[in-house]
Amino acid sequence: MSVDVDILKRRAAERAVELVESGMIVGLGSGSTASHALRRIAELIQAGKLQDIRGVPTSQRIEQEARALGIPLIDLDDVEIIDLTIDGADEVDPDLNLIKGGGGALLREKIVAQISRREIIVIDDSKLSHKLGTRWHLPVEVVPFGWRTQVRYLESLGAKVTLRQVEGAPFKTDQGNLILDCNFGPIDDPTDLARRIKARAGIVEHGLFLHMATEVIVASISGIRRITRSATRL
Ligand code: A5P
Repeated sequence: MSVDVDILKRRAAERAVELVESGMIVGLGSGSTASHALRRIAELIQAGKLQDIRGVPTSQRIEQEARALGIPLIDLDDVEIIDLTIDGADEVDPDLNLIKGGGGALLREKIVAQISRREIIVIDDSKLSHKLGTRWHLPVEVVPFGWRTQVRYLESLGAKVTLRQVEGAPFKTDQGNLILDCNFGPIDDPTDLARRIKARAGIVEHGLFLHMATEVIVASISGIRRITRSATRL
């Protein structure tokens, strides 16, 4: 039986929304899977089944979408802790470490994730991988000033680097920065790589989300699985 990937994304997202309760501050992730969650939250608010929800968007795009759907928002600076964030990912390893940033929102997504009590990742099963970097390149956000120097630095760490472009022009993040898509191949030691990447002035953030996801909801044609951090090898 073949099921459209987008249907699997929606199933995972809708299962995650079952964990949202009235009164919560909810981090609103970016990407097509997280958008399904956004739409479901809006439906439940409209139906009066969720009340007093305030959302913290992780990108300008999701902020616009949330406003259009009538989801009340709160400024991140006015929030001490986010009860629960629902976000997507590009690759997930057995320890629930992630590669994110396929949509270019990795910096805001990480800022929101790091103050979230629960970071719930929603994916279809094609995103599961034994080793990060096997299925997806690692996005790295850099300031435009001197960006070619960062390319050389990332190449010295072993990556094949591509400047992300959209319609022939460099892709700009919500912060006005650039994204370098880095193909490292399977990454043996993500913690060490993350440390080396962050050691460099001009590199703003990278898409390795290590020890941040508290649970992952995976939809496949055979059903939905919820993997929590305590159930992993960590
Ligand atoms: C946005 O920058 C990303 O981190 C997304 O969450 C990730 O790319 C997953 O996107 P999809 O849900 O569209 O596959």
